[in-house]
Amino acid sequence: MKRAFRQSCQESLPGMRATSVARRGESSRRQAPARDAEGFQIHNCDAFDWLCNALPCSIHAVVTDPPYGLVEYSDRELTKLRTGRGGVWRIPPSFDGHQRSPLPRFTVLNDLDKEALRHFFHRLAQQLIRVLVPGGHVFIASNPLVSYYVYDPFIRSGFEKRGEVIRVVQTLRGGDRPKNAHDEFSQVSVMPRSCWEPWGLFRKPCEGRVQDNLRKWHTGGLRRRSESEPFKDLIVASPARGEERRLAPHPSLKPQAFLRQIVRAALPLAQGTVLDPFMGSGSTIAAALAVGYESIGLEQDRVYFEVAKRAIPSLAALNTVDGLHNGQER
Ligand SMILES: C[S@@+](CC[C@H](N)C(=O)[O-])C[C@H]1O[C@@H](n2cnc3c(N)ncnc32)[C@H](O)[C@@H]1O
Repeated sequence: MKRAFRQSCQESLPGMRATSVARRGESSRRQAPARDAEGFQIHNCDAFDWLCNALPCSIHAVVTDPPYGLVEYSDRELTKLRTGRGGVWRIPPSFDGHQRSPLPRFTVLNDLDKEALRHFFHRLAQQLIRVLVPGGHVFIASNPLVSYYVYDPFIRSGFEKRGEVIRVVQTLRGGDRPKNAHDEFSQVSVMPRSCWEPWGLFRKPCEGRVQDNLRKWHTGGLRRRSESEPFKDLIVASPARGEERRLAPHPSLKPQAFLRQIVRAALPLAQGTVLDPFMGSGSTIAAALAVGYESIGLEQDRVYFEVAKRAIPSLAALNTVDGLHNGQER
């Protein structure tokens, strides 16, 4: 296993082999436990703290679903969510006896929030371009309402935009009649019902030609689905349900059937390390485990970190309808 990380973790979980965290010249007392028994490490820490101490050119791809409202994962809003009080989280009414998952309200963002988003993604892009190897790709989940606050800072930080992956998914967003006037304007929706989720696709510029970069850094392209089929940018993938949701109760859980496809594509030669700086319940890390890749996951919230610790092996072991396991298509 090619290691680009220095040993510095204070605590390892029992039975795990020694773990390492990329730090430059300082010990990592605040760093949370990590596990690395099966080619993945997870850390309960702030992503920016970790990233600014990571070695340059030590990560081969990033697949992540970042916070968007920014405030929705603050202690205050998480407490409201966990006590069922809502706040920035819209708690949909139960339907047919099923309680729907809460959704953060992006439409309530004011100008200051939007500026904060732009600043957040600028900081993130600057750190990611430093830690990625040349030719390394970033797949970043977004939303049609706010995607430009991500894409612009990434491009300004030196990334090349390489397209977008469109996840076709029916959500509960949009499609509502005007608030408090739905009878009067029963034929109107204020926004389209959202049926897709954009994932920005960026690449750190290659060193020379793609073939040179592939030889030197093992990055620069995307892994094909098979000899005859390239990776494609339209993927139909329903929200995570049932067993997945039970294993990984996170309000923004992404399904394995989708994540395994993009994580697999992110390492063209199946070599290197995938990072998720905002792993939530660890679904990206589970997807990497399922397709046989090394990965690192970061999560600042203790509760979600504990969820991830438990959920990753079980999520990785799940069969998915159109997903992948051990790098093989089913
Ligand atoms: C949109 S969720 C990701 C959920 C994930 N896709 C899943 O399937 O479970 C974003 C996560 O980032 C975490 N987060 C927010 N800011 C962070 C930071 N600065 N460092 C590390 N994690 C952070 C939040 O606690 C949240 O769990």
